[in-house]
Amino acid sequence: MISDPQSFLNEIRIRKEYVDDCLEKCLSRANTYPALIHEAMRYAVFNGGKRLRPIMVFEGAILGGARKEDVIPAACAVELIHTYSLVHDDLPAMDDDDLRRGQPTCHIVYGEANAILTGDALLTAAFELLAGNMKVSSVKAENLLRVIGEMAAAAGSRGMIGGQVLDLQSEGKNIDYETLRKLHRLKTGELFRAALKTGAILSGMSEAGLAALDNYADNFGLAFQIIDDILDIEGSEDMTGKPVGSDEKNHKTTYPSLLGIEKSYQLAQEAVKACQEDLKCFGEEAAFLRNLAYYTLDRKS
Ligand code: IPE
Ligand code: IPE
Ligand code: MG
Ligand code: MG
Ligand code: MG
Repeated sequence: MISDPQSFLNEIRIRKEYVDDCLEKCLSRANTYPALIHEAMRYAVFNGGKRLRPIMVFEGAILGGARKEDVIPAACAVELIHTYSLVHDDLPAMDDDDLRRGQPTCHIVYGEANAILTGDALLTAAFELLAGNMKVSSVKAENLLRVIGEMAAAAGSRGMIGGQVLDLQSEGKNIDYETLRKLHRLKTGELFRAALKTGAILSGMSEAGLAALDNYADNFGLAFQIIDDILDIEGSEDMTGKPVGSDEKNHKTTYPSLLGIEKSYQLAQEAVKACQEDLKCFGEEAAFLRNLAYYTLDRKS
């Protein structure tokens, strides 16, 4: 339980505003040539995302004893990868959604071809930023190389993309619980995992600490996606900024469609409980991550 929910929400808001400031500085200006793509990239990024993944990069860094200033490019890079995944996820060939973060999706505004290219540009810009992390801090080159490798693996065909493929393959089919768990682990869990570990690796955290964060992020990703699936049924478009009923429209197999809402929520609660166990090796310094797991259960957006 979060002991003081109001002050925790305030902590999230402060972190989100910090991420927004960092992104503003990391992204090319809208008038950079050719302007269309840079304008579209900014359109996709600056629209009120919750910024949970960069927030996790910063938390990982702080837990490992680094300063948040040391990992700004890496934190922004993760948000660019996440944003690219949303731009492509909304395309007509995928979930075919026309609202994202409360505004028309990228392909509605810029057309399908430009939205595909916007996603591509965000993904490549992320790796440009990651490689540039050396410029802002004294992180060790070997740690940065490891992060680049882990990030690529998490975003790629054995990670998030693999999960998106399983998600598409499962449309209209009755997949079992184990397959659904795997799908969630890949499509949602992997990027959270890479985000949290990125900050931690750059801070030089021990392998034992990294393993604990690995488990936390996996359970967090599961709870997060279960609640996303519940919000797709019970949420409000005003709060989530995306269409309600997208999963049903696309005949997705989700936790609620497979197990019902009550059982799904119960499994999300269990995953959040597991998150608390995973952080046992940390002290007070992990309080924010503990609360973040509880927060994901009650979130409305
Ligand atoms: C949406 O992620 C996609 C999922 C993995 C469920 P978020 O709910 O973090 O989306 P934003 O970044 O806040 O818009
Ligand atoms: C997408 O899951 C996860 C990604 C890797 C983009 P969803 O399709 O459920 O995400 P939303 O609900 O559109 O944000
Ligand atoms: Mg999808
Ligand atoms: Mg979607
Ligand atoms: Mg969804």
